[in-house]
Amino acid sequence: MPLSAARPAGRHFLQIPGPTNVPDRVLRAIDAPTIDHRGPEFADLGREVLENLGRVFGTTGPVVTYPSSGTGAWEAALVNTLSPGDRVLAFETGHFATLWKALAERLGLEVEWVPGDWRRGADPDAAAEILAADREHAICAVTVVHNETSTGVTSRVPEIRAAMDAAGHPALLLVDTISSLGSVDYRHDEWGVDVTVGCSQKGLMLPPGLGFNAISDRALAASESARLPRAYWKWGPIIAANRDGVWPYTPPTNLLYGLREALSMLLDEETLPAVFARHLRHAEATRRAVRGWGLEVLCEDPREFSPALTAVLVPDGHDADAVRRLILERFDMSLGTGLGKLAGKVFRIGHLGDFNDLTLAGTLCGVEMGLVASGVPIERGGVDAALEFLEHEGQPVAS
Ligand SMILES: Cc1ncc(COP(=O)(O)O)c(C=O)c1O
Repeated sequence: MPLSAARPAGRHFLQIPGPTNVPDRVLRAIDAPTIDHRGPEFADLGREVLENLGRVFGTTGPVVTYPSSGTGAWEAALVNTLSPGDRVLAFETGHFATLWKALAERLGLEVEWVPGDWRRGADPDAAAEILAADREHAICAVTVVHNETSTGVTSRVPEIRAAMDAAGHPALLLVDTISSLGSVDYRHDEWGVDVTVGCSQKGLMLPPGLGFNAISDRALAASESARLPRAYWKWGPIIAANRDGVWPYTPPTNLLYGLREALSMLLDEETLPAVFARHLRHAEATRRAVRGWGLEVLCEDPREFSPALTAVLVPDGHDADAVRRLILERFDMSLGTGLGKLAGKVFRIGHLGDFNDLTLAGTLCGVEMGLVASGVPIERGGVDAALEFLEHEGQPVAS
């Protein structure tokens, strides 16, 4: 950038639904000399991180950690458990469910696709019906995106599990928690999930670069006979090396320093119940702001409102991306764009990760000013409605 280029003063507001703001403490933890990844100091770090990581997933089983984005962790979940031509049941909940389906098809899997309108989560009734009809048990896996980041809809994973159990169906349950992990209540073991896919750059408050698979005993057993080709993604060698706190290849040392710090903040300091309650509270305040503006939240079912982000529909005749552009240029705030068939129709407010009442207040002020400056017909008062909720009804519960 030339020296004369204008640099906006103050801190940029990164309010996309991930990557999220990385706390200074985590940045400082990452800012350390890189060490020998086969030496004793690294093994201590590896062991400590691996011992605690399962708590975020709600599992006592293994969590395989890759140097990858979330897409890599998606692929790992499929190639470790399935064979060419296997059938997978998936739900069209939005852009990310559609991408996971496309990835499965590229791997040679056959996807049974339950169509959706991108305003609701995976339908447990449809799952129950399809699985009950599958008497031959041809469906090998059910995939669900827990928190659909393109729509702000959180699927009811326990109800999908209950539908599978009611049908007595043995398919594996594979769940994407990429934008819910560390922000939304989630219980891998208790809910009977077989593979949980996660990554670093959202609720875990880290930069992009770590992908995760939490693995049940059944999934581990399935990986013994699964025949999709896999090499880098193969769980076995990683789980074996992890017993000594190391990886079979060069791990992302400095991101693991960051992960240790973030886990300490989430698990030991704030604690997960408080983290989840904070996200629920900020999501409710955001929806009150949206309604206060006279606009519509994309998610249609209150049971599925996302605690991590809110997608806001702009009225016909207005371009959500033009609103986002103006907000970036004028207020130095990034909001999430409309993805896939929602392009231009919604913008998304991320309220997850390292986030508090005043970050939310600043974010909503930027949105309200941006909507008015863009000529979108709104009522003033959205910010007031959110503040009112935060001040009164939405008081944090004392721990
Ligand atoms: C729900 C969900 N799944 C998968 C992905 C893909 O992850 P990545 O972009 O890290 O590969 C994303 C990315 O935002 C996501 O939100």
